[in-house]
Amino acid sequence: MEAGMIRTYLDWLIELPWALPEEKSVDIAEARRILDEDHFGLEKIKQRIIEYLAVRKLAPNGKAPILCFAGPPGVGKTSLGQSIARAMGRPFVRVSLGGVHDEAEIRGHRRTYVGALPGTIIQAIKKAGARDCVMMLDEIDKMGRGIQGDPSAAMLEVLDPEQNATFRDNYLGVPFDLSRVVFIATANMLDTIPGPLRDRMEIITLAGYTEDEKLQIARRYLVRRQLEANGLKPEQAEISDEALRRIIRDYTREAGVRNLEREIGRALRHAAVRIAEGSTGHVAIDVDQLAAILGPSRFEDEVAMRTSVPGVATGLAWTPVGGDILFIEASRAPGKGGLILTGQLGDVMRESAQAALTL
Ligand SMILES: Nc1ncnc2c1ncn2[C@@H]1O[C@H](COP(=O)(O)OP(=O)(O)O)[C@@H](O)[C@H]1O
Ligand SMILES: [Mg+2]
Repeated sequence: MEAGMIRTYLDWLIELPWALPEEKSVDIAEARRILDEDHFGLEKIKQRIIEYLAVRKLAPNGKAPILCFAGPPGVGKTSLGQSIARAMGRPFVRVSLGGVHDEAEIRGHRRTYVGALPGTIIQAIKKAGARDCVMMLDEIDKMGRGIQGDPSAAMLEVLDPEQNATFRDNYLGVPFDLSRVVFIATANMLDTIPGPLRDRMEIITLAGYTEDEKLQIARRYLVRRQLEANGLKPEQAEISDEALRRIIRDYTREAGVRNLEREIGRALRHAAVRIAEGSTGHVAIDVDQLAAILGPSRFEDEVAMRTSVPGVATGLAWTPVGGDILFIEASRAPGKGGLILTGQLGDVMRESAQAALTL
């Protein structure tokens, strides 16, 4: 038993990438090309990434800021991180912080603890196989705080250039140098990130896409990717722009393009079946086939439907996952002249309803 534990410990020590690979110089023009190849639009953000890479190239030992991509799901935060790794020619590794509420998950358990293991940071380093990897700290805003110590305190140490050269994982018991890791964080919202942690990062906001941008992204990237993922050649299947627009409007409701990509995949798998059966060599998917392939549309034109009833007004709302519309319905009923508010309204909404009644 004891011998087995020591062996596991030694394996960890041996397998960790202690040596620093030689610094590869980043080709800035090539980096620009890679960012464009992977992502449509996002001009300002790509520009900021290029600046970041340029500064790192000129001052490889300087303190680089830690970038944090903030925005709704499916806008490309994770995939931008992958592109950065590709542009820098370094391995990419993702650490999911969502739901982490125990300091030991970051920093590991002492070896005296049954079933002890290093924390996620050291595990990620081993997975990357290089201590100059690009490490994505995904969903840093979803990190909780439990009774077992505050994980954000451990995170602060990981991200602190003064301290992270001698990062101490409880399991390893010896310092490990994290100072050459390129950390990139992502978040849906900023309010839940503890202040000191937020101050350590440079926030880059991704707002979400318009319908036209989604169409461009679908046409240039998602369809191509899904063709490949489903074993189809570009000449075997196509989806018309009108069909793509319809999918965006009636089958998805999101700020990003994650469900859009999933629905395109579903439509193309349908084509893949017909081609694999040998019944045809080319499938063109158009608007009139969508209902048969994807089922009835999920989002009818709700605004028109709901507001056709007198007394219903349309409101705009903001949530961390994107914009939305909501309907406010007023109806009159016999009674003693009071105002009843239903739904879980906050103070501001209650006051607004009172103000509307007064008017
Ligand atoms: N501007 C864009 N151009 C091309 N593809 C994009 C763009 N934005 C998002 N995508 C694609 O959408 C999918 C979801 O993106 P992802 O990075 O997982 O989003 P997030 O991490 O923000 O939730 C990925 O396949 C990604 O490549
Ligand atoms: Mg993501």
